[in-house]
Amino acid sequence: MWCLKAAVISLSVCAVLGGRDFPPGFIFGAASAAYQVEGAWNISDKSLSIWDYFAHTYPEKIVDSATGDVACNSYNKWETDIEIASELGVHFYRFSISWPRLLPSGFPDYISEDGKRYYNNLINTLLEKRIQPVVTLYHFDLPQSLQDLGGWTNPLVSDWFANYARVAFSLFGDRVKFWITLNEPITVCDIAYNTGSQAPGYISPGVGNYICNKNAMLAHAKAYRIYDKEFRSKYNGKVSIVNEIFWLEADTVNDEEAAEKARQLMAGMYCHPIFSKQGGWPPIIERIIAEKSNKEGLPYSRLPAFTEEEIKLVKGLN
Ligand SMILES: *[C@@H]1O[C@H](CO)[C@@H](O)[C@H](O)[C@H]1NC(C)=O
Repeated sequence: MWCLKAAVISLSVCAVLGGRDFPPGFIFGAASAAYQVEGAWNISDKSLSIWDYFAHTYPEKIVDSATGDVACNSYNKWETDIEIASELGVHFYRFSISWPRLLPSGFPDYISEDGKRYYNNLINTLLEKRIQPVVTLYHFDLPQSLQDLGGWTNPLVSDWFANYARVAFSLFGDRVKFWITLNEPITVCDIAYNTGSQAPGYISPGVGNYICNKNAMLAHAKAYRIYDKEFRSKYNGKVSIVNEIFWLEADTVNDEEAAEKARQLMAGMYCHPIFSKQGGWPPIIERIIAEKSNKEGLPYSRLPAFTEEEIKLVKGLN
């Protein structure tokens, strides 16, 4: 867990050098992702994730042909890891649940006892050490069986995700008060489908990424609404999404418009549907992709539209 130490140290250095105080209630922590730390890729009834498959099938696409087969071995060393986190004095530990470890078929027909036990142990021991668990439901490791059905480009994927989220909320929601639905949809959709450099390794720029974008927004929203309807009154937790924001500034005044377009593409795509008053895609992006699609002779936009109902589902109440 050296990475955890580095994160905490750099934050303290920033605080000192900046000469400013963090506001009261500001909490420090560390974060990981299941595939990056757990290892134990083939233990018990766990099924393959798209990263297991990708790393084993395309070793040439990964630096040094590394895999997460063992990683930090946190599946076996979780107790030591929590001790280290406790010594560091972190207030929270963010980790992700491996979907194929908890639900090996990808669906809620069968819950892995070992998967359940692992995450219960982790959560309970963190709480004993007064470390708040912050749980990410999806950090890039889709069950490969769902990928074989199209993964994030299958329109049913938002329901598959929502059903998985419901299982996690009902198993762990009594103790987990901070939930993250998706980690960085820009990575899941745009970096993955535009470059093929990440699992699932398909290259479908301007098509696959946009279909994925829409499904990811719906997946987030459906999980969020399920928490609202079925769990919030009992558990009173918070549910959000992690967006990676690539911020771009114009170099000259002449580039202001281009910079704004770029920001809308890199950040607005995942923020506008949720946080804007009108909801839906950023209008400028929707217009540009529709025009380009039209010029290419397509009778529709490559960016799938939201229905009115979907806009409402995804949008907050602001
Ligand atoms: C699991 O994978 C490891 C390599 O990471 C291998 O040595 C081991 O035999 C595998 N176990 C099973 C049960 O397939």
